[in-house]
Amino acid sequence: MCGIIGYTGHRTVVPILIGALKRMEYRGYDSAGVAVLNGALRIEKDAGKVQNLEQKIRDAQLSGQTGIGHTRWATHGAPTQLNAHPHTDDEFQIALVHNGIIENYSALRQELTKSGHEFKTETDTEVVAALIQEFYQGDFAHAVQKALKLVKGTYGLAILSVNHPGMVIAARMGSPMVIGHGDGENFVASDPTAFLHFTRDVTYLEDGEIAVVTSDKVEYRTLADEHIDKKLEQLTFDIAAIEKGGFSHFMLKEICEQPQTVADSMRGRLLIDEGTVKFGGMAAVMETLNQAKRVLFLGCGTSWHAGLVGEYLMEELAGVPAEVEYASEFRYRSPALEPGTIVFAISQSGETADTLAAIREAKRHGAPVFGICNVVGSSIARETNAGVFLHAGPEIGVASTKAFTSQITVLFMLALQMGRARRVGASRGRELVQELREIPNKISRILATREKIETIAHHYKQCRNFLYLGRGVNFPVALEGALKLKEISYIHAEGYPAAEMKHGPIALIDRDMPVVFIASKDGVYEKVLSNIEEVRARGGRVLVIATEGDQEIANHADEVVYIPSTDPLLTPLLTVIPLQLLSYYMAVQRGCDVDQPRNLAKSVTVE
Ligand code: G6P
Repeated sequence: MCGIIGYTGHRTVVPILIGALKRMEYRGYDSAGVAVLNGALRIEKDAGKVQNLEQKIRDAQLSGQTGIGHTRWATHGAPTQLNAHPHTDDEFQIALVHNGIIENYSALRQELTKSGHEFKTETDTEVVAALIQEFYQGDFAHAVQKALKLVKGTYGLAILSVNHPGMVIAARMGSPMVIGHGDGENFVASDPTAFLHFTRDVTYLEDGEIAVVTSDKVEYRTLADEHIDKKLEQLTFDIAAIEKGGFSHFMLKEICEQPQTVADSMRGRLLIDEGTVKFGGMAAVMETLNQAKRVLFLGCGTSWHAGLVGEYLMEELAGVPAEVEYASEFRYRSPALEPGTIVFAISQSGETADTLAAIREAKRHGAPVFGICNVVGSSIARETNAGVFLHAGPEIGVASTKAFTSQITVLFMLALQMGRARRVGASRGRELVQELREIPNKISRILATREKIETIAHHYKQCRNFLYLGRGVNFPVALEGALKLKEISYIHAEGYPAAEMKHGPIALIDRDMPVVFIASKDGVYEKVLSNIEEVRARGGRVLVIATEGDQEIANHADEVVYIPSTDPLLTPLLTVIPLQLLSYYMAVQRGCDVDQPRNLAKSVTVE
């Protein structure tokens, strides 16, 4: 979603802003802009890509050593030049960039209009600049604090004032802001990838805090002007992790990284001899896990699909009733969270607004809430009582791939750990741990067949509709396969439990609507085979994901992609790989922007 960068220091600011905006392009955006202080305030912004903006800035010869920049994902007002950030007050004294939504902007706008302010844009953001200017009496930070006390909603902000050259103020309420500490220079950003090339020393703002940033100092205060001390933290991930490393797209790089990322998610956590698992981040809450009577998984998008796999695993291995809820729905229900219910919030970014709100709702009902997150230091990681990190490394491609397999790896380990404390014996535990350890190699074997999947993609790329069917633990994989296709190739695709096909989707089947079946050898294999026949009897084209050695299936399918054999509960970690590759190659062959699909955002920080 929107991205923020701010800089003050000894370097020329424009290349820093542009470089940072380019590194945040993956978050999804539709316009971009910068403001630079150099005696006066200079702003350049436009609809479209950062590349367009770069040319405009060059033509305008912007220079200076303090500035802010933004990539905007439109919420209020179309993605036009006028609505692009930065926004200013009508006297051109204050410039700011904003992530989030100002919920009471309409009322504020009316009030400010009465006192003579004029507004030019359709955005919710512009009122904040006017409000700060309204309160400004020589102290920039005080004006920001006073203004933000009147603002309702969510924001991450980076703000400049023409009267305070060399200063950037950052503020946070529900939308992440991180400060990067350099030598004679400091950065503010919504995402540390923006400045990772310059520094790894960071501090994070909490809700209701502002940072007053100059080149040699950062001061933290609350909106009530209490001063706060913060400890520097170190970013540990590698710069290589946020670069393409020879791959044509981040998505392909991340698909191909999965043997490594899945291994990283289990690293140091498997107790091989005991046939179980230990998580450092859950050690203090083992008692709560062991006594849990019910598990609730919360998440959005791909993370919600991982939760659905988790539901099967938890019930199968631990025998604990489990449910999955869309975080966006859960937050507005009156959930009955009886004692003994534990909640796991699943999120790659750790910043998804709906998941954060659902966590707060669950906590309000007294439930212990644990996180399953990828991004260390993220809001969800910090707001949950304990949790497990995925250790999958930065995921840049908008369509989530490696985070999904790491989420399933973690959920499997969690279900196994809870199962071992309840009903799974040591020898079955050892068997499952051994099978899990073999998964990275098996993923590599599937990746080695990717040229075949590229060819299959070629056969199907003109189709406008797809159906994905799976059963049991592979039903969520069918949903995930369909989601991947929709997200990046804009082909309509639906995922269904295979047996449900008879209750509706079967009416759609013809040569133009291929059906992708997940038919790995497990307890429901024969049933899926019957479902395949039902499709073929109606002239449908069938692409099957099957288990190696299953030669028979080739008689029932137009195309077969094989995965190595594993324990049925672990098959999602393998069956999803060909589906990720299929969607990737179809999107590439259709000329789609794979890493930045239209309208989507990597991290959805608004409701
Ligand atoms: C967005 C992304 C999806 C992701 C979902 C949840 O929609 O485009 O790829 O699955 O958000 O994100 P999270 O970071 O909470 O896993």
